[in-house]
Amino acid sequence: MVDSERLDKRLKRLERRRSAAPLQLSAPGPDAETLRRLLTIAMRVPDHGKLEPWRFIVLEGDARIEVARQLAATYIVENPNEDANKRDKQITKIAAIWAAAPVVVIVVSRANSEAKKPEWEQILSAGAVCMNLLTAATLAGFDGVWLTGWAAYNEAAKRILGVVPHERIAGIIHLGTENEKQKDRPRPDYDALVTRWRSQ
Ligand SMILES: Cc1cc2nc3c(=O)[nH]c(=O)nc-3n(C[C@H](O)[C@H](O)[C@H](O)COP(=O)(O)O)c2cc1C
Repeated sequence: MVDSERLDKRLKRLERRRSAAPLQLSAPGPDAETLRRLLTIAMRVPDHGKLEPWRFIVLEGDARIEVARQLAATYIVENPNEDANKRDKQITKIAAIWAAAPVVVIVVSRANSEAKKPEWEQILSAGAVCMNLLTAATLAGFDGVWLTGWAAYNEAAKRILGVVPHERIAGIIHLGTENEKQKDRPRPDYDALVTRWRSQ
């Protein structure tokens, strides 16, 4: 039997985990060695057929600022008819989010519909990678958030990020330390979602 005190200690961190507000993230983030460990853990996911249908693009330091600049410029080109005020707000937000967290990891799904296992399962595996990374970061004492947003779905933005057309962005994971801890949000109702199987 698992000792209940030990179990409690192990689970508490994950029971309290919640996503960070992206603009509240700042240094410290994981250093190079810790990030390598976190990404190695992130890769340790169920992967039907051992296809490795995902990869990672890491942005740190000046790369985040340069990407923020290029994305903001591209947003203007891609949205020529948007109201100027709204557009300004969008590019300010894009630039701020990409520059806030010290480490940003793009989890790229490279699921292949011709592969020997279903594409759906390959995509699920990329989702598992994202969550594994967030969980590992939580256990390492960092805060993080899983985002997508405009850049994940716009082809010109994807090019800037280094994602090729047949690939998709599963998540953009921003990692660092939250300046101000967020209040929790209402959580799902366990009893509404968990049932025991009965013969139909
Ligand atoms: C695939 C995916 C994409 C997401 N993209 C965004 C996003 O672009 N912007 C956003 O505010 N939240 C986004 N979220 C939601 C946040 O990651 C997160 O679920 C929310 O802030 C509540 O977090 P928590 O339940 O982990 O505390 C996304 C979640 C998923 C699973």
